[in-house]
Amino acid sequence: MKSSMDKEVQPASVLRGSPSLPADKSISHRSVIFASLHQGHSTITNFSTAADPHSTICCMRSLGVNIQEKDHSIKVEGVGRDGLKSPDEDLDCGNSGTTMRLLSGIIAGAGTTAQLIGDKSLSSRTMQRIIDPLTDMGAQIDARDGDFAPLHIQRNGKLQPLHFPLPIPSAQLKSCVLLAGLFGDDPTTVIETLPSRDHTERLLQLDIQEQKDKKIIHSSRADNIPAQSYRIPNDFSAASFWLVAGAVHPEAKISMKAVGMNPTRNAALEILKNMNAEITVSDRRKEGAEPVADITVSSSQLQPVDITKEMVPNCIDEIPILAVAMLFADGTSKITGAEELRHKETDRLAALSDILKKAGASFMEFEDGIEIHGNPDFTPQQGSFSSEHDHRIAMSAAVLSLMGEQPSQISNAACTDISYPNFWDDLQLLTNW
Ligand code: S3P
Repeated sequence: MKSSMDKEVQPASVLRGSPSLPADKSISHRSVIFASLHQGHSTITNFSTAADPHSTICCMRSLGVNIQEKDHSIKVEGVGRDGLKSPDEDLDCGNSGTTMRLLSGIIAGAGTTAQLIGDKSLSSRTMQRIIDPLTDMGAQIDARDGDFAPLHIQRNGKLQPLHFPLPIPSAQLKSCVLLAGLFGDDPTTVIETLPSRDHTERLLQLDIQEQKDKKIIHSSRADNIPAQSYRIPNDFSAASFWLVAGAVHPEAKISMKAVGMNPTRNAALEILKNMNAEITVSDRRKEGAEPVADITVSSSQLQPVDITKEMVPNCIDEIPILAVAMLFADGTSKITGAEELRHKETDRLAALSDILKKAGASFMEFEDGIEIHGNPDFTPQQGSFSSEHDHRIAMSAAVLSLMGEQPSQISNAACTDISYPNFWDDLQLLTNW
């Protein structure tokens, strides 16, 4: 049955235009947190208006930081590392794992006391990965069943520095430990063997040693926390939905401006190019510490590709939409080493399989990935696709639906507000020809 929360997506005869794109979500979170820790003012332009970064703004306000929002800009009166207060209320992280994991590091490091809560999805995601290192640093963390939010965090003794080889390639975990380390007299060291997104290191200008097979990152109280006054790039992860839509659709040309080009984020661009996607990248430039460029994609004849464990961290959020691209490739593609997808806003491998099954695709799901038998003539059966309240699943299902012959329904479609509030308007804009 169709509910008012569902969205109907019509097949598209043409896809053409320039979507508005939201600002980068990962950088938005970090910019407001780091601006709060800076002693002084920051003005951040093109700040994301999506729900997740807004959760971070609200939490930073509860920690005593004055933040003004106007249109797509925010002004932050940074209180410095020692100016944060213990909040009177719970810190509501909403649906945002980045908010919960990064702020846990800040609270443990600063020695404030706070309880962090989240929505149903966030409350079912493991927090063990941050609880272990923060406990080793001296935090006392009470978590539901020892693993899940609500997390009550306080610290009684002195902050202990940590030497931390990352057990999984997670930027949230890396950032959590480095942020706690910023409050320590002695340096905390994080050792990374598979590179994950590096916005934290870039924006905080942390001390890094690059070695042949690893990256060693230090943080301590000696690090100056710079003001965060820059323009945030548009979100590559949001752009990836249109990159795939443009590549798989037979009548498409889509252009996007000032898209984030951080190499630790945009492996999907290289993967699509390896699939033979017609993508041009122009006017490479920098916005603050981050590279950006303009990108155009047009209808392509896609070849199959494999995504392996080493590639996964740099395209982790794009895997659901890359799987959609694989459906239209001329042969079999395989994704392996992507078990982390089971720990996202929903189990994204299971959610994806459910959609592919309804669409009539030929595929096989594994514990750590999926194999997809593509076909350039594939026409998805129309269906009632379940978003599982997960923004990236909803948007992937919407792009797939554009390729059908009949309208499809996407359940709980408003969940796209988590990262891309204008998604449905942009879809309308591109298909209205
Ligand atoms: C993020 C890191 C990734 C990513 C998430 C945002 C970040 O999560 O999936 O959407 O901003 O640091 P993990 O660190 O759990 O891989």
